[in-house]
Amino acid sequence: MAMQICFLVKAGSGVATLGLPDSPGVPRTTTANTLTAPYNDLEAVKKLFSENPDAISGVILEPIVGNAGFITPEPGFLEGLRELTTENGSLLVFDEVMTGFRISYGGAQEKFGVTPDLTTLGKVIGGGLPVGAYGGKKEIMSMVAPSGPVYQAGTLSGNPLAMTAGIKTLELLKQEGTYEKLDAITSRLIEGIIQSAENNSIAINGGSVSAMFGFFLCDGPVRNFDEAKTNETELFGKLHRNMLQRGIYLAPSPFEAGFTSLAHSEEEIDKTIEAFDQSFNAIKN
Ligand SMILES: Cc1ncc(COP(=O)(O)O)c(C=O)c1O
Repeated sequence: MAMQICFLVKAGSGVATLGLPDSPGVPRTTTANTLTAPYNDLEAVKKLFSENPDAISGVILEPIVGNAGFITPEPGFLEGLRELTTENGSLLVFDEVMTGFRISYGGAQEKFGVTPDLTTLGKVIGGGLPVGAYGGKKEIMSMVAPSGPVYQAGTLSGNPLAMTAGIKTLELLKQEGTYEKLDAITSRLIEGIIQSAENNSIAINGGSVSAMFGFFLCDGPVRNFDEAKTNETELFGKLHRNMLQRGIYLAPSPFEAGFTSLAHSEEEIDKTIEAFDQSFNAIKN
C-alpha cells in the first residue's frame, strides 16, 4: 500500500497563530491528495470514506491535540477511527510527537487503549535533541530498507548524541512514580489556572492529561479547531505579556498545549498559579 502524506494542509499552531492560509509554496497538486476532517467528528470522517471509496490510504492525527491548543478525544472517537480505518483497509497513524512518553510511558495509545498501525515520535525520545522516529506493525516496517524497498535516511538518523540523550530520558521516565508525579503537579497547575481565571470572572475552560495541559479563554467545551478559534486571542496576548513580566514564559500562542516536566517543583507550580492570579486580575475589564 503506497501512502503519500502531504501536510501543511490546515497545519498546526504556528500557522494558526499567524493567521496564515495553508502554506504558500506547497502546490495545490500536493495538498489535493490530503483530505481534512474536524477533530472529534467521526461522522465527518465516515463521510470522507464514503465519498472517496478505496482512495484513502491512511488517517493521521494527534490522538490528543496539542497544535490547536489542548483538545482531548471524546469517548469513542479514537476507537471509532480504529474501526473505520480497519473496515476500509486504511492505516491509522497516531502522531505522538507531543503525547509519546509524555502522557504515559506508552503514550496516548496506551492511555486510551487504541493501537494505531503506525506511530510518529519526535524530540521527546531524544531528550529534547533533534530526532524523529516512526514505528509500527511488522508488515509495514518490513517495507522499509534494508528489508524492503522504501528507502529512508537522513544526516541526523541515529545520531549518537540524540540517541544517548534519548536512552537516558527514557530510563528516567521509567522510574517508579514518574507519571504519578507529573499527573499530580499538572492537574494542580491547571486547576489553579482555572480557579484564578474564575476568581477574576474571565471565561476559561481547560484540562490536563498527565504532563500535558491547556486552556482556552472562552466558555467550553472546545472539541475541535473551529471551537478553539472562539478563544479570546487578544486577551491571551495580554495574559502572555503579563505572565512574562512575572517571570513565566508561556508558549506564545493560544493554540499551543503546555507541558510540565520532572524538573518542576511544587514551589514553581505555586509561583506559576500566583502569577496567573495576578495576571488575570491585571487584564480583566
Ligand atoms: C504533534 C507534532 N507533530 C509533528 C511535529 C513536527 O515534528 P518535527 O519537527 O520533528 O518534524 C510537531 C512539532 O512540534 C508536533 O508538535
